[in-house]
Amino acid sequence: MYNTNNRILQWYSLNKRDLPWRRTSDPYKIWLSEVMLQQTQVETVIPYYEKWINHYPTIKSVALENIDNLLKIWEGLGYYSRCRNFHEAIKDIFYNHKGVIPKQIEDFKSLKGVGVYISGAVMSIAFKQTHIAVDGNHSRIIARVLGIKNQTSRNLKRINNYLTKLVTEGNPGEINQALMDMGSNICKSNKVICVNCPFHFSCKAFQSGHPLSYPKKIRPKTIPTKTIAAALVNHGDNIFISKRPLKGLLGGLWELPNIELVNGEIPEDLLKIKLADQFGLTIKVGHKLGMINHTFTHFKMNVLLYNCQAKDQPLSKNTEKWVSFSDLNQYAFSKANHKLFKLVELKND
Ligand code: ADE
Repeated sequence: MYNTNNRILQWYSLNKRDLPWRRTSDPYKIWLSEVMLQQTQVETVIPYYEKWINHYPTIKSVALENIDNLLKIWEGLGYYSRCRNFHEAIKDIFYNHKGVIPKQIEDFKSLKGVGVYISGAVMSIAFKQTHIAVDGNHSRIIARVLGIKNQTSRNLKRINNYLTKLVTEGNPGEINQALMDMGSNICKSNKVICVNCPFHFSCKAFQSGHPLSYPKKIRPKTIPTKTIAAALVNHGDNIFISKRPLKGLLGGLWELPNIELVNGEIPEDLLKIKLADQFGLTIKVGHKLGMINHTFTHFKMNVLLYNCQAKDQPLSKNTEKWVSFSDLNQYAFSKANHKLFKLVELKND
């Protein structure tokens, strides 16, 4: 009897995407790919993955590297705690596990940044162990197969049980990845091609005639907007940049000094106070260069950029530097800061 597991594997053998991390069995590389793929699309990840592997082909090469250089490779990929946690976990493996990735899922899961999804994905794909790896694609597909509309905890359990049965029937890594490809190809949240689907015969959502109604879409929460003033502080040919603390949002990245306007403060005044208090800089705030916006998961921000002149140029420190505009590319900045640099370039054109 041709079971669903076989049908999925057959679909996968015909439709599998050729992705760089599928051409290796090295658990380090598979792990890196899964870390990068969390919250990020495949097409975005590919060049980052390839660049990283070119620079750091082994666990040892990552363990011996400093976080600044790793963040420079990660620059633009977002969710930078993934990079910091991966570095911590790799150092842990290099120094405490003889450089070998633990094969016991509980040991692997105890590493920094390794949760239920990553551990299931890596153990099933790299070591062919029977574990599920439930991402948005998996839960959407199985919700449709089972005719589930609401994401209650009972329904999430039903989805997990269904997936567990599916991977127990064989080839767990392939099954997990097949579902990812089905989710990005024939069973998307807003488009389906049910005739090409291995679940076609048994899918409740298909049988209903309204597959896109499953599962019910959760309306995205509205998120707050912050207004931030940032300073392009000039002294001679140099500008001032500072490094964010390692912990927290965009931790370890460099930035133009900035401050949130909370209660309708005057940006020029607040920037003066902030630069004096935090960096001991006396500045003259000039004209506004423009505004950029950027959206994070939990908030949006509008950043107003002001051209400023510093009275003098104190010596650079580890976390505060004076650099020429052309040397900025030696440091890792967030996307929002790159947008600010673009603004300056446009003004100078
Ligand atoms: N998304 C998360 N993991 C993936 C993988 N291994 N292949 C394709 N897409 C993915």
